[in-house]
Amino acid sequence: MTDHNDEYQQAYLRERAARMEAEQLLEDKSRVLYALNQELVKNVADLEHQQQLFIQAEKMATLGTLSAGIAHEINNPLAYAMSNIECLKGTRLVIDKLLLLNEQFMTGSITANELKHEVQSLQALHSFAQLRVDIQELTDDSHEGLRRINSIVRNLLNFARPSNNEKQLADMTDSVKNALKLLKNQLSSCQVTTDLNALPLTWCNLATINQVMVNLLINAKQACDVASNKEGHIQVYTGFVDDKITLTVTDNGCGMNEDTKAQVFNPFFTTKPVGTGTGMGMSLVYSMVTDHQGVIEIRSEENQGTQVCCYFPVISN
Ligand SMILES: Nc1ncnc2c1ncn2[C@@H]1O[C@H](COP(=O)(O)OP(=O)(O)OP(=O)(O)O)[C@@H](O)[C@H]1O
Ligand SMILES: [Mg+2]
Repeated sequence: MTDHNDEYQQAYLRERAARMEAEQLLEDKSRVLYALNQELVKNVADLEHQQQLFIQAEKMATLGTLSAGIAHEINNPLAYAMSNIECLKGTRLVIDKLLLLNEQFMTGSITANELKHEVQSLQALHSFAQLRVDIQELTDDSHEGLRRINSIVRNLLNFARPSNNEKQLADMTDSVKNALKLLKNQLSSCQVTTDLNALPLTWCNLATINQVMVNLLINAKQACDVASNKEGHIQVYTGFVDDKITLTVTDNGCGMNEDTKAQVFNPFFTTKPVGTGTGMGMSLVYSMVTDHQGVIEIRSEENQGTQVCCYFPVISN
């Protein structure tokens, strides 16, 4: 009986030791796994950060491409606002004179007759009715010019602002319209047609989608510039087709050969002259679209044109 008990106890002790060893092993492995997981989380965060920096750097490069056209776009309204202010300065002299006469009359330093006489001679030099029309037109015109400058600068700042990677329930049409507004002047060498249909709201980052559209539109424009033998046409389509939000940019530019098509999404791949393209545009478009669980399809034929379609699922939470 005692032998039996001893055996039983030893078996129990062996079993306990084995179990403790296994538990220890499990704990060690868990600790290693936890450390590895922590490292992985950190690496993913680092990668996401690098990606954001990359997107921002590409934005700055795109801004470089945009800046020449934008300077021109701002210059026009700025020039007429400035010349209007010059004209208003002349008008101000007459108003100053009238205010002074008014003050002199009110304080009794000139009589009503003298006031009448002075006002009449001023009126003979400058038609007051015309002055009123001029002031109205000059201020309205300048206001319109400054409003345009303000909207160009706002669009630019919207574009340049680092996107925070935060998504919201929004309408991608806003991004498409913003990109078209931002590039209005740049695209004026091409005929741009839009067919913007209602889109459902989806979880997205509008700044990122804006950047996608700016890149696609600049590429389309540059492709049209290369095919200088015909008038450039760019079509922008948005719609909700087969449960997908569809954004399409089509151009009748130079198109791509097979080699270009195969490499178009490769970082730093460009066929453009040094200093024109960084070759980062489409690679970032790809990552920005896939970040929205979307897919891109490119159809392109040399000397015929290119169509880039982005399809996004609707994400509602
Ligand atoms: N719409 C298009 N038509 C013809 N070729 C295109 C079009 N879009 C892209 N490509 C080709 O793909 C290449 C890569 O495009 P991507 O936008 O990545 O770089 P890029 O335009 O050369 O430079 P950037 O970084 O300034 O955008 C272009 O150099 C061009 O050869
Ligand atoms: Mg490009």
